[in-house]
Amino acid sequence: MEGLFTLGDFGRKKLTAICQGIEFSPTQTKAAFNLFDLMSASWAGWPLGDIPMWRTNLSDDNTPFEFSLEFRANEIKLRILVESQQMPLTASSSWEAGLQLNQRLTLQPEVDLTKFNMIQDLFYPLKKTRFAIWHAAVLDAKGKVTFKVYLNPQIHGEKAAPELIKEAFTRLNLAQAWDFLAAKLQAAEGRSKLAFFSLDLIPDEHARVKVYLANSLMTLKEFDFQLKGSRNYVAGADINWIQSLTGIHDALDARSIVNYFAFTAGDNGTPISNIQVPIRWYVENDAEALARTQALLPQQQSKKLISVINKMASRSLEANRGLLAHVAIRHEKDGMCVIPYLSAEAYGVL
Ligand code: TRP
Repeated sequence: MEGLFTLGDFGRKKLTAICQGIEFSPTQTKAAFNLFDLMSASWAGWPLGDIPMWRTNLSDDNTPFEFSLEFRANEIKLRILVESQQMPLTASSSWEAGLQLNQRLTLQPEVDLTKFNMIQDLFYPLKKTRFAIWHAAVLDAKGKVTFKVYLNPQIHGEKAAPELIKEAFTRLNLAQAWDFLAAKLQAAEGRSKLAFFSLDLIPDEHARVKVYLANSLMTLKEFDFQLKGSRNYVAGADINWIQSLTGIHDALDARSIVNYFAFTAGDNGTPISNIQVPIRWYVENDAEALARTQALLPQQQSKKLISVINKMASRSLEANRGLLAHVAIRHEKDGMCVIPYLSAEAYGVL
């Protein structure tokens, strides 16, 4: 239909705002658009409409994609997270669409599905669940792209998740990783839940296998202890960041703070960790979320984030919260890496 405004058009409009805000060069901007086209191919031509075509858990308002910006010492990377989909909608339609994206990705440089193929049958959705498969792409300043896939440890229910993840690690020859995780799950006594399982779709031994835990109802001290044993652990640092982002005093409530443990071959089961703070649930509005996030960034980058958010927003930042959805933080050798996740807000929150 002529003149129809599509989900793809909407995404590209938001991406324009981001590329301008972070002052991407024309070459970088072109790479960003090509990447969005690749990632969004399954639904880019679907009409945006007033209500979502399907209910995705990827965002609060059912937009099936989310942009994030990885601020590092000397670089900003652009990241795109998507849920693929196809008609007719069934328990496995998103899974099938995700597998087709995997196939398209094999045409990209350095994409390797070996690890995915070793474990994918474990994550096949037999009934409708929170999600089955998501993909993320990371575009660095030089134009290099890496891809990741996210799978659902709870695809066969919460109770079955630990056995499922144990089996996945066994197949991937990372039994020590499972030992590390099992100890963490036991220490948490049910307050850390297996939320996401992620694989880097790259060939070499640097490919990370990540497990995301959703942590709730524990003291900040207990949470800090959960992160201990990671190679990049800095005692007390993460809980300080959580405090400044959320205003939490001494304990996590029912709203989960997520962290991942990233394992690689040869790390002897000692992972890298990061934390992902759902900042939207702890602030009055996006102006407050932005102020709290800015405090973690050097001035130059902070300015860029403000510019991005102001260009992306289709409402005043004081009017609501949710545009700045999460902030992830990771200790790196050369400093800290801060990742704000930006909602496109295609729809109202249902
Ligand atoms: N929207 C989901 C959630 O809030 C999944 C998700 C999307 C997510 N982006 C994220 C989770 C970034 C953590 C960090 O859980």
